[in-house]
Amino acid sequence: MRKILVTSALPYANGSIHLGHLVEYLQTDIWVRSQKMSGNECLYICADDAHGTPIMLKAQELKITPEKLIESTYKEHIKDFSDFFIEFDNYYSTHSEENKEFSTHIYNQLKKNGNIIEKTIEQFYDAEAKMFLPDRYIKGECPKCGAKDQYGDSCEECGATYSSTEIVNPISIVSNSSPITKKTEHFFFKLSDYEDFLKEWISSDTTQLEIKNKLNEWLSDGLADWDITRDKPYFGFNIPDHDDKYFYVWLDAPIGYIASFKNYCEKNNKDFNEYWDKESDCEMYHFIGKDISYFHALFWPAMLEGSNFRKPTAIFCHGFLTIDGEKMSKSRGTFFNARTYLNHLSPEYLRYYYASRLTNKIEDIDLNFDDFISRVNSDLVGKIINIGSRCARFINKDFNNKLSGELKNSELIKKCLAKVEDIIKNYEDRNYSSNIRLITSMADDVNKYLDEEKPWVKIKNESEKELAQKICTDGLNLFRILIGCLKPVIPEIAKKVEAIMRCASINWENIEEIITSDKIETFEPIITRIDKDAIESMKNENIGDING
Ligand code: MSP
Ligand code: ZN
Repeated sequence: MRKILVTSALPYANGSIHLGHLVEYLQTDIWVRSQKMSGNECLYICADDAHGTPIMLKAQELKITPEKLIESTYKEHIKDFSDFFIEFDNYYSTHSEENKEFSTHIYNQLKKNGNIIEKTIEQFYDAEAKMFLPDRYIKGECPKCGAKDQYGDSCEECGATYSSTEIVNPISIVSNSSPITKKTEHFFFKLSDYEDFLKEWISSDTTQLEIKNKLNEWLSDGLADWDITRDKPYFGFNIPDHDDKYFYVWLDAPIGYIASFKNYCEKNNKDFNEYWDKESDCEMYHFIGKDISYFHALFWPAMLEGSNFRKPTAIFCHGFLTIDGEKMSKSRGTFFNARTYLNHLSPEYLRYYYASRLTNKIEDIDLNFDDFISRVNSDLVGKIINIGSRCARFINKDFNNKLSGELKNSELIKKCLAKVEDIIKNYEDRNYSSNIRLITSMADDVNKYLDEEKPWVKIKNESEKELAQKICTDGLNLFRILIGCLKPVIPEIAKKVEAIMRCASINWENIEEIITSDKIETFEPIITRIDKDAIESMKNENIGDING
């Protein structure tokens, strides 16, 4: 049995889960479910990322404490995830005692190693709001092309990147006043101390090739010191012995993986060190989006190395979601929250659709609504689920729910079962789209068999009735195998099929069992086709949200 710790990136606690996030949480959930079907111990750990300036300011705007804000977001996130059948073994928050302890411990270790240095820097300061301003909170004219109303880190007009102090006529978006520059003492993590370690870490197969190339580029550009300090006011953990300074949110965020796992161990009486000890032989994987690879593939392994923890076995990076070929956009009405989707459509449609698009590449994946309707309606419902209803109908009506004692076409069943090994491998390799192709082509074979044998004709002829029962028994066994192969993707549909077939919960071992002679339940409709209107009303609700 393998022992595997799996994480998804921790979503920020200042916003709702949206369809872009779900690419990641569904990709991870499908992977974990397949591991569990192999009988491996696979623990899926996550948490809300609860610290930082945006959360502090949003709480101020709502006139509540940050603690209240992150508490209500936490509840909302948990509900969204569970309604999409995303099953965490632990979902925690970075604003926790455990996380404070680990963050302080890791910082102290790095300090002891001599990896932390102090520098005086100059930053924009909003004298009205009495706070230092992160780059995203400054607007002004681009120093290169003069475009107005540009953010403090980059220009959307000419693409230039610059430091916020270069911007012309800067304005604080917190108070709309002109900020002043002010000196402050910050602590920096000397990433360059870990250059040799990182070179070696990256050369082992810990990241996909694209990321590896990117990391090597960063390494050859030279590793800059990383500013891990934020001045008060800030929502986060205090830096030891500095009441007015806090850890930057990105310091304690990945440590949240450790803290959430620790919390899991406390609740489940598990040995924490088995997974996190430097010598641990358990596997550990981080699923992340391409935008946060720098943090996970440079800072994070260096922090772990410096504080004597194990490093991840690999980092699995995915691309971004586009909607009908374009970036999600609030103004175009294509920024869909998870809840807006759920108000109109079944979660398993999206699970199936994302699976049909997901590979282990870092390419963006597109949600095209016409393609979405067609893949769900013609493939999932029309080809796959339909096999069940086609065959169960006769078993229910003409044979008092009883399957025949033997099969007619055990060859076809063997042929499908022979694919299971590839299917398991594709899940492991995150090649979900290959699996959906494989499973639909298996379904094509089954439908072809049924079309040729025509049990609906044979059933009318007394001398062929028994044969029809055998054919339908073939069909239902094949149906169970297909649904078993799709179980990581459509877990609730699989549960319904297990109940109809009165079979044990399907896993990668018992999927080969053949069911004959037993009674099954009456086939109930499992899932309906997508109604085009449901998509329209989802889009309308979204536009309503934006205007309202
Ligand atoms: N809080 C940080 C992660 C800290 S991990 C120690 C963060 N949060 S996030 O809410 O912005 O994003 C969470 C995850 O969702 C990230 O891996 C991010 O790449 C992913 N996605 C966010 N928007 C996405 C799309 N539009 N498409 C695909 N994935 C996206 O980053
Ligand atoms: Zn510009």
